[in-house]
Amino acid sequence: MKKDTLYNYLFILIFFLSVVIQGCDSGDIYPEDKTNNGTDIDVTASFLFSNVEAFPENYKVIFGSFNEDSPYPISSKMIVQPSADEEILVSLTNIPENATFLALYLVQEHSNSKIYSFYTYQIEKVLEEDFEIPLQEIDLAAFGRVQKQVFSQCIQCHGGSGFAAANLYLTDDKSYSGLVNVTALRNPDKKLVAPNNIENSYLMDILKGEALQNQHSSLSSLKDDDITLTEQWIKSGAENN
Ligand code: HEC
Repeated sequence: MKKDTLYNYLFILIFFLSVVIQGCDSGDIYPEDKTNNGTDIDVTASFLFSNVEAFPENYKVIFGSFNEDSPYPISSKMIVQPSADEEILVSLTNIPENATFLALYLVQEHSNSKIYSFYTYQIEKVLEEDFEIPLQEIDLAAFGRVQKQVFSQCIQCHGGSGFAAANLYLTDDKSYSGLVNVTALRNPDKKLVAPNNIENSYLMDILKGEALQNQHSSLSSLKDDDITLTEQWIKSGAENN
């Protein structure tokens, strides 16, 4: 190979490397800024999260604009995992005209479809100027999230279609009273959920595959996040929030 051909190759290689390195380091902590058909209204919101242990890895938390007609956000920014006591500031630019509410939402990792809203701001009239949403305290291990994220995977056998295995209803209206401080049918030494007490909560034995495995073989699709979330909810007092 001639010397200057070699230099040419080297030059091209260095050029590509520099493009790749730059691409990795966009310096953007909220990488998913997707906006369509915006008005020129910008919104800034701040959030303070509790139970950060329950921040998801296999789902996403986004702040976005939505309307009731779609299971997906219209525009959104992804929130990165905060540390304890860290306030997160997030801005949405060009709120789309068809948005009817803004929300901090838990969504499916790949499809972005809605699972659970931590916080909702209804847009009641046409937005005319930029505004700020004051600091909102968000419990990452709220019971509402456990219901939508975890128990939605159970209701086919536990009350969704009338039949409830072990007479346990895990539907929206009945799950809390059916679980918390209720003695387990299949293990009367334990409660189904004993607030602040993982060891004594039979629900955790089921989720971790330590009890009634055969009846729950279909739950191999449960994610680590589902188990961590339920555990954190119980550890922090199993509130009905
Ligand atoms: C494919 C059907 C099926 C699915 C899905 C299912 N279960 Fe069950 N579950 C059962 C059966 C069957 C039993 C045992 C009934 C018995 O022993 O009489 C049971 C029992 C239980 C019990 C014990 C209740 C008690 O009082 O002892 C708990 C707790 C429970 N399931 C939780 C869950 C949770 C949480 C999910 C979802 C993450 C889930 N199950 C999903 C079929 C299912």
